Amino acid sequence: MAIRTVGVVGAGQMGNGIAHVFALAGYDVLLNDIAQDSLDRALATIDRNIERQVARGKVSPEAKAEAMGRISTTLMLPDLGPSDLIIEAATEKEVVKQKIFDELLPYLAPQTILTSNTSSISITRLASRTDRPEKFMGFHFMNPVPVMQLVELIRGIATDQPTYNELKAVVEKLGKTASSSEDFPAFIVNRILIPMINEAVYTLYEGVGSVQSIDTALKLGANHPMGPLELADFIGLDTCLAIMNVLYDGLADTKYRPCPLLTKYVEAGWLGRKSQRGFYDYR
Ligand code: CAA
Repeated sequence: MAIRTVGVVGAGQMGNGIAHVFALAGYDVLLNDIAQDSLDRALATIDRNIERQVARGKVSPEAKAEAMGRISTTLMLPDLGPSDLIIEAATEKEVVKQKIFDELLPYLAPQTILTSNTSSISITRLASRTDRPEKFMGFHFMNPVPVMQLVELIRGIATDQPTYNELKAVVEKLGKTASSSEDFPAFIVNRILIPMINEAVYTLYEGVGSVQSIDTALKLGANHPMGPLELADFIGLDTCLAIMNVLYDGLADTKYRPCPLLTKYVEAGWLGRKSQRGFYDYR
């Protein structure tokens, strides 16, 4: 089956990045969200981000115009029904994701592949509620999507080989690299990355170092492009906490205990860049 049309659910940070890279790679993209201003903001962000690539000579102005012309938006989830591939990139809450798949199912063609960009939730469990667990996979992009090379492919227990092969080919067409993960809490990238961030928060909590000294240490001492606390602000502290909770609950090991300071920041609404305040102040 040749995938041509892609339905993306959720026009936030991840959804608009996913729409951006698929449109540039020649796919027709239908982007869905529940609010018109989210869709408007997403289109403006995609335009701005592709323009950065034009300014740096990585994309031609013609390719930009064609890509923008391949993206349509809709507030109606059923409009995504005829898509060859669905990528759910909504809020990282299992009930929200389940509701989206429940609503979409009656409108889908039988061959449509379903994916979730979840960063930690069980693919097997999400797939089990659908009518096609063999055509369901985790399709995990990294932020910022247009820049990051990796896409994690996560097979649920029932995912079949043709579905895996199809998505691997899509990743190659996007010019990205796939890594395969079995379906265990937080998969590979976040199983390793988020506990590192949590440990950085403990390092701050215990007074071992300041925000600046922790970030400088990892940037200059381990060649990380961002320090762990700056990266936590970039990912969103609520997302980091949600992933730590998935690891803590799913693996039942105290080494995944979320740092109380991380919990406190989230309770305060200090979620990082998106709320203008996290470990750094962006106001
Ligand atoms: N769209 C298009 N291009 C973008 C972009 C975007 N949204 N954001 C950055 N860029 C481009 C810039 O135009 C620039 O291009 P050139 O190389 O051609 O000049 C390049 O990316 C670098 O950007 P900047 O010069 O603005 O800034 P930088 O050098 O500080 O890099 C960064 C920014 C790429 C974000 C870098 O700091 C980085 O790699 N940080 C780590 C990001 C990371 O770890 N992401 C994974 C998070 S975990 C995750 O996503 C999984 C999860 O589930 C939580």
